[in-house]
Amino acid sequence: MINVAIDGPAGAGKSTISRAAAGELGFIYVDTGALYRAVGVYALRNNIDTKDARNVGKSLEKITVELKFADGVQHVFLNGEDVSEEIRLPEASMAASNVSAIPAVREFLFDLQRDIAAKNNCIMDGRDIGTVVLPHAQIKIFLTASPEIRAMRRFKELEQKGAKDTYEEVLSDLKIRDYNDSHREIAPLKPAADSVTVDTSGLSLEQSVNKIVSVIKEKM
Ligand code: DC
Repeated sequence: MINVAIDGPAGAGKSTISRAAAGELGFIYVDTGALYRAVGVYALRNNIDTKDARNVGKSLEKITVELKFADGVQHVFLNGEDVSEEIRLPEASMAASNVSAIPAVREFLFDLQRDIAAKNNCIMDGRDIGTVVLPHAQIKIFLTASPEIRAMRRFKELEQKGAKDTYEEVLSDLKIRDYNDSHREIAPLKPAADSVTVDTSGLSLEQSVNKIVSVIKEKM
């Protein structure tokens, strides 16, 4: 199977770009952030402090997380319920960032990610795919952009969905998440030694997709 690992900070365009590139290549697209978000949503719904490693760890016994693909579109299920919409709320983003720093949570989601990659040609995106989850992926890309550009993209996305968050709030949340994601002890966000870095700051969506597809085709 051909596995492409795409890692990078929040808002770099990983999901949009990966989805489009996967479509062009006929691969499935796996968004691993959705898994951490589902665990975060469980904690939020049950009033569990998302930074409390002991309680979040204990709650894992009561959780099943599954990914299903319908027409190439990924849906995430929490205890059998499709939570694909709910996981996109801003509070779910911060909850995901918090629970993702808990080793038991990462361990809990590890096999699920590995299994999908073993069975499918896929583009998998996340923070630690090239470094930890799929260290043997044939192609590794570190996708990034400046914080201001990433925040503006997120802001517009949220605005379209009717969210009331201001640009400043989005930027400040994003900086906190960047810091959390790259400073945690376990599987911090960092480029894999054998990854190609692509900065999308000055690129349109179409240019970014073309760039990624060409990097992948070159390596294949
Ligand atoms: O990519 P995203 O914004 O949906 O991810 C949500 C959070 O989950 C992010 O702040 C960090 C965490 N995450 C992770 O630790 N490892 C991954 N492979 C994917 C996401």
